This record gives sequence, structure tokens and C-alpha cells, in this order.
Amino acid sequence: MISSQIEQALNRQIDLEGFSSMYYLSMASWCQVQGFNGVSAFLYHHSDEERMHMLKLFHYINDRGGHGIVPAFAAPQKDFSDIHEIFNIVLSHEIKVSNEINALVAMCIEEKDYTTHNFLQWYVAEQIEEETLARNIIDKLKLIGEDKGGLYLFDRDLQTMGVAGHGRGKGGRKKH
Ligand code: FEO
Repeated sequence: MISSQIEQALNRQIDLEGFSSMYYLSMASWCQVQGFNGVSAFLYHHSDEERMHMLKLFHYINDRGGHGIVPAFAAPQKDFSDIHEIFNIVLSHEIKVSNEINALVAMCIEEKDYTTHNFLQWYVAEQIEEETLARNIIDKLKLIGEDKGGLYLFDRDLQTMGVAGHGRGKGGRKKH
């Protein structure tokens, strides 16, 4: 059984993961409209992953005697200036998510809830991957700048990463 404080905190994380899914969906849609089909495919996939992060929380809360609540998500930004802006937002958003996960982990230690602490370790590892991926993409974009040929190849690369499930590491994205 989880405490009501932990239950509320996990429900706030549901809100954040669900909002992340909507945020990346909004970015994916904008990219598709702009003709960046590769970046769009990558972001649609990223949006699906965030939904999965949210669902894991629902199942955990409910399995531990709590109640996972569907929140009213805030409407995400719908227009973006360019691809550079999008990935800068992705990184800053993921840093925010990491901070929230860390705060949850600290709360679990304070409350001596080692079961939830253990559950959250998956998210801790996931956040390291998410931040690294966003930083690597931003590094590539810095090299490309506004070069149209470079952006074309970048879009094609991300298409492959989206299809392969982000293509992290040698064997591609880990399975959940
Ligand atoms: Fe589920 Fe990207 O945080």
C-alpha cells in the first residue's frame, strides 16, 4: 500500500508524462506540416513512449492500492520557429522531468517507501537516456546550422531512428 503523499506525487508524475506525450505529439504534427517527415516520425514515436511512461505509473499506483487519475492536460505549444527550437525544448523539458523524478526518489527515501523507490529506478535510467539523446541531437543540429542539405540528411537520419525506436546504443532502443 502506498501512502497518500506518494500516491499524489505519482499522480502528478502521470500528469507530467502525459503532458510530455501531448507536447511531443504537438511537435510531431508541426514537423509533419512543415515537411520534416523524418523528425515528425521520430517525435510521434517519442510521444508514444511518453504515453507508455504514463501507463506504467497508472498500473503501479493501482497495483499498490492507490488510484491513478487521468488529469486535464494543459494544451501544449502548437507553433514552433524551427527544428532547433524544438530540440532545445525537448532537452529542457526532459531536464525538468528528471528533476521531478529525482524529487520523487527523495520523497520515497524520506518516507522509507523502498518499493516505490525501486519502481522509480527504471525512470531514473530512462531519463539519463532521454537527456543524452536530446543533447546528441542538439550537437548535430549545431553543426548543421541552417544548411539545407544538412537539414535534409538530418531529417532522413531521424526517420531511421524513429522507425528503429530512437536507435539508442548499438542494438537500438531497449525494449520495455
Ligand atoms: Fe517520460 Fe521523457 O520523460
